[in-house]
Amino acid sequence: PRTLTVGGGLFFPLPVLFLLVLYSAMEGEVLIGNSEAGEEPIRVTAEGQMWQWRFHYPDPDSGVTSLNVLHIPVGRVVEVTTLSRDVIHSFWVPRLGGKLDATPGHSPSINIQADQTGTYGGVCAEYCGTGHSGMSFVVEAH
Ligand code: CUA
Repeated sequence: PRTLTVGGGLFFPLPVLFLLVLYSAMEGEVLIGNSEAGEEPIRVTAEGQMWQWRFHYPDPDSGVTSLNVLHIPVGRVVEVTTLSRDVIHSFWVPRLGGKLDATPGHSPSINIQADQTGTYGGVCAEYCGTGHSGMSFVVEAH
């Protein structure tokens, strides 16, 4: 298992993590083993926790994470599953349309897709305590 953990994601060399995400996607395609696999969504997990977002590629078992920065490939469907271990948060990226509660005991999913490279702002859309208003993140579409 890969054990890279990224803190202070804004300063992490973005191409490296992006390659890891691509690698995960390619690995998935090999496992699926069919020619349509390129259209399978890329999976990530958005874990809300007072008061930050930890993104797992593709899930907490992978050990590949980034903090408050979600890296996605441009032009691909990305299936975001939310997760919380404390209170209810809500993952919301207004320009990508994705808005989904992160609720303890539930793991719902939503699809997002960025058609242009860039940085898309995201926020927590559910009041979750004193740090709620600072619980923002960005989506980096490469
Ligand atoms: Cu988390 Cu508001």
